[in-house]
Amino acid sequence: MRYFSVFKTDAEILRAINDIHLKGRWYDLDCTYSKGVFWKSLPQPRYKSDLYPQYDDVMQIDATTMDGIEDNRFESIVFDPPFLFRGRKAENRDKMSMRFSYFKSYEDLMRMYSKSMEQFMRVLKVRGYLLFKCQDMSEHRFYCTHKDIINYAEKIGFVLRDIVIKVSSNKLQRDAKQQNCVAKTHSYWLVFKKAI
Ligand SMILES: C[S@@+](CC[C@H](N)C(=O)[O-])C[C@H]1O[C@@H](n2cnc3c(N)ncnc32)[C@H](O)[C@@H]1O
Repeated sequence: MRYFSVFKTDAEILRAINDIHLKGRWYDLDCTYSKGVFWKSLPQPRYKSDLYPQYDDVMQIDATTMDGIEDNRFESIVFDPPFLFRGRKAENRDKMSMRFSYFKSYEDLMRMYSKSMEQFMRVLKVRGYLLFKCQDMSEHRFYCTHKDIINYAEKIGFVLRDIVIKVSSNKLQRDAKQQNCVAKTHSYWLVFKKAI
């Protein structure tokens, strides 16, 4: 089986990453499990958590603290955090923001991502994998989120091993009054390995 870099579904991407990088060991923890949409057509991860669990078998854990989780616990972590931010209250009611919560600013978003990455570095085993789903955002300007994530991850000891792209067919983003950059119809799966 030869995989290429662009996919239409998260499930295909998770299978590819499992085959190529996890060598078939499957996923330990999905720490932003939500409704578990990723896993509908796949085996479940061994552990599930979320800040707001929606099922009994999902642990209540804040990714920015990972309280109660010992060091070097997991071989792999899937992280699909909220990615929207809205500076002004009047703009807080679009479908995606309501569904997954949102940040007040890009700085808040990056603070949450950075603190979580520091915790993942702690709770992952050496040579463990962090699978980080993200997308670049625009509010009044373009934010190159994936670059900032990669820079921070490398700064704290992760090595970027791969980038996989998911192309979305439905356009969930709301229409901008004035378009300031191209509307994003793709997201990234960043494959990081704990090197130290
Ligand atoms: C984009 S959704 C994840 C969707 C999920 N991958 C699925 O397949 O259904 C983001 C999730 O992150 C969770 N979340 C937000 N802040 C969090 C935090 N600090 N720690 C853990 N989970 C958090 C939200 O509760 C939400 O369920």
